[in-house]
Amino acid sequence: MKKKVIVSAPGKLMLFGEHAVVYNRPCLVTAVDQRMKAEVEVLEQPVFQLEAKDVSVTGYKKPMSELGKGDIPKGAKFAEIAVRSFLTRHSEFISGSSKLKGKMLKQVQHDNIGIRIITKSDFSSQFGFGSSSAVTVCVIKALSELFDKKLTDKQIFHLAYKTVLDVQGKGSGFDIAAAIFGGTLYFVTGGKVIEPLAVSYLPLVVGYSGIKADTVTLVNQVKEKADKYPEIVKSIYDTIEKIVNQAKIFIEKNDWQSVGELMNVNQGLLAALGVSSNKLEAMIYAAREAGAYGTKLSGAGGGDCMIAITPEMRRKEVEKAIIKEGGEIIRVLTNAEGVKIE
Ligand code: MEV
Repeated sequence: MKKKVIVSAPGKLMLFGEHAVVYNRPCLVTAVDQRMKAEVEVLEQPVFQLEAKDVSVTGYKKPMSELGKGDIPKGAKFAEIAVRSFLTRHSEFISGSSKLKGKMLKQVQHDNIGIRIITKSDFSSQFGFGSSSAVTVCVIKALSELFDKKLTDKQIFHLAYKTVLDVQGKGSGFDIAAAIFGGTLYFVTGGKVIEPLAVSYLPLVVGYSGIKADTVTLVNQVKEKADKYPEIVKSIYDTIEKIVNQAKIFIEKNDWQSVGELMNVNQGLLAALGVSSNKLEAMIYAAREAGAYGTKLSGAGGGDCMIAITPEMRRKEVEKAIIKEGGEIIRVLTNAEGVKIE
């Protein structure tokens, strides 16, 4: 058995379909070449250790028997719960674990092994590139390798998605899928469909708003709107679904003008759901005026990043316009490779 492994997974950008994808609709997501790396090591002491300087977690240490318990710092949650999810599912690695009527006992005794994790990210956790999902995927992939489980990508998806739901209660899982499979994906809630698109390049400009969005808060706000105006919000989701399905076709045809036009329509509906912001709108309109085919926010909204489908000859002007509105240009290549052992 290997003792240590380094795994990396890409960040992501939502192209179309955010929010609606939480409610059984499709979305389009692309993996970016800025990656999360995790060095994962099996220890002989029953202790869990985590170093994640990018999210201000240093010297974090606890007995394995305390995994998932007590006050867990925000930056440690996903890695810790990912370890717990894996070891609970594969409890043969833990002495003292037992099965009850065929069901794995939740409360396993982690008394014969420990895990040390060191993470390092190419991108800031503020961008909304999915650092929590990427960490979760890296940890589960690494444990699968270290314990020789040979989990398939689909099995990694389900375990990582369970971890995300355990930690934050909500989410479609699209970011997990991007971290595992890479490329550009057509994705339906919970991984019901995960389909790679035949595309190798997207002419994207990415602008960071400088504001960190809280996904769970925004998803809850949209839910409140849906509870109050169920028919109206349902018809917005239905329209977003149509946009996603149409955009998929245009992306595969490299018809960027039409992709851009659909981005503008999707943005209008996101604004209708109440998740845009003055800063995002300013960056979005400036990019359109500077010659982008189309622009929208990417992800939960409220902050994070906006994206602009831009003709190559207008890239510089579009970037300048975004900067003028106080945005920061994040240079990424899309269609990045999925999770891998380094
Ligand atoms: C957040 O990046 C995208 C949302 O659709 C949430 C999700 O799909 O998990 C708002």
